[in-house]
Amino acid sequence: MTQAAAIPLREVKRVTILGATGSVGRNTLDLIVRNRERFHVEALTAYRDCDGLIALAREIRPQLAVIGDASLYQQLSDGLAGTGVACAAGAEAIVAAAERPVDWIMAAIVGAAGLAATIAGVKQGAQIAIANKECLVCAGEYLTALADDRGAELLPVDSEHNAIFQVFDQQRPETVEQIILTASGGPFRTLSRAQMRDVTPKQAVAHPNWDMGAKISVDSATCMNKGLELIEAFHLFPVTANQIDILIHPQSVVHSLVSYIDGSVLAQMGSPDMRTPIAYTLSWPERMVAPVARLNLAEIAQLTFEAPDHDRFPALRLARNALAQGGGAPAILNAANEVAVAGFLGGQIGFLTIGDIVAATLENREMAEWLRPLDSVQEIIAADEQARRVARALVQHAE
Ligand SMILES: NC(=O)c1ccc[n+]([C@@H]2O[C@H](COP(=O)([O-])OP(=O)(O)OC[C@H]3O[C@@H](n4cnc5c(N)ncnc54)[C@H](OP(=O)(O)O)[C@@H]3O)[C@@H](O)[C@H]2O)c1
Repeated sequence: MTQAAAIPLREVKRVTILGATGSVGRNTLDLIVRNRERFHVEALTAYRDCDGLIALAREIRPQLAVIGDASLYQQLSDGLAGTGVACAAGAEAIVAAAERPVDWIMAAIVGAAGLAATIAGVKQGAQIAIANKECLVCAGEYLTALADDRGAELLPVDSEHNAIFQVFDQQRPETVEQIILTASGGPFRTLSRAQMRDVTPKQAVAHPNWDMGAKISVDSATCMNKGLELIEAFHLFPVTANQIDILIHPQSVVHSLVSYIDGSVLAQMGSPDMRTPIAYTLSWPERMVAPVARLNLAEIAQLTFEAPDHDRFPALRLARNALAQGGGAPAILNAANEVAVAGFLGGQIGFLTIGDIVAATLENREMAEWLRPLDSVQEIIAADEQARRVARALVQHAE
């Protein structure tokens, strides 16, 4: 990550929110609405939640509102008539929104679908609050190199990476021994594989500590979320894969830790509320007030930790292997996982089949040529598309 001069919070910051209607997007806007005088909102984007976008745009009054599904343009335009908010629709319009000059962009589209817009934001050299971990998983080398080249700052929003960002000694990275990502373990932390076989999407989405979008909630239940975060951490911080460890911590109070060569371990703690890490990126390098419940350790009384169980949660091993394999493997892992999670949420496959499909896609002979180093975004997108085709066929023929 580059450490270029940042805009002090006392100046008005021009911001764009990609994925405004989602969980991260709405938490971001909550902070902005509470500090209206500090922010000028340039653009808000959504995909299909047109009513949600209209309501947000009517409240926030950005310069531009963009809906990804082009068939919803008229509905958006009618809904914002008379407000002075410009409207646009389609995937290219989302990228164009990310190209509009601003100081700060929240990259909170879910999945690799957010890659093109995130790249556009990085290219303009803005601060990018990066929630969209899938972008870093499939194009981490490309995005970090581009950010260095354009002077863009990648500010981690994921609570774990934000925690590490807060306690990692960027001036002396050689003194860091390990970074330790904590994981709640998700809603099925104590279930056997046999018990997981019949869990429903509703159960999988009901995360014990965090209120999040459906896809990341299922990823938390399979522990693929932590696998994706392992790859994300590898790209965000100057450490090797072997220096990244995972620790189950069911209370989600310690958001992650960094251990140093002298035996010190620094942790960042807080209530499980995304507005804390979002506020940290929104005000960085200063701090701003966030309306989150204050941590009461006496009330919590006990913080517990355990090692992850790779047999019950094979996604962790799949992700670590994909990172070690390099080349297109992380992009394939991510694309197959997105397809499999959508298949599970759509009732086409069972919970345990998600991991099976990711593993089978990575091993599929049609994917072999995409395991090589991918030199361009076009190649990354081609690998992603091919992995989706393979994974979709596997979903169709599963069970
Ligand atoms: N939620 C959390 O607490 C949390 C924590 C850490 C990291 N993250 C990461 O942040 C990202 C967003 O998560 P989330 O939980 O906020 O997801 P979410 O609630 O499902 O929201 C996703 C957002 O992306 C938009 N979107 C979906 N598909 C799109 C497409 N094809 N093109 C353009 N926009 C699209 C959605 O628009 P519509 O609403 O119109 O469909 C929505 O605004 C994910 O990468 C996730 O892993 C989330």
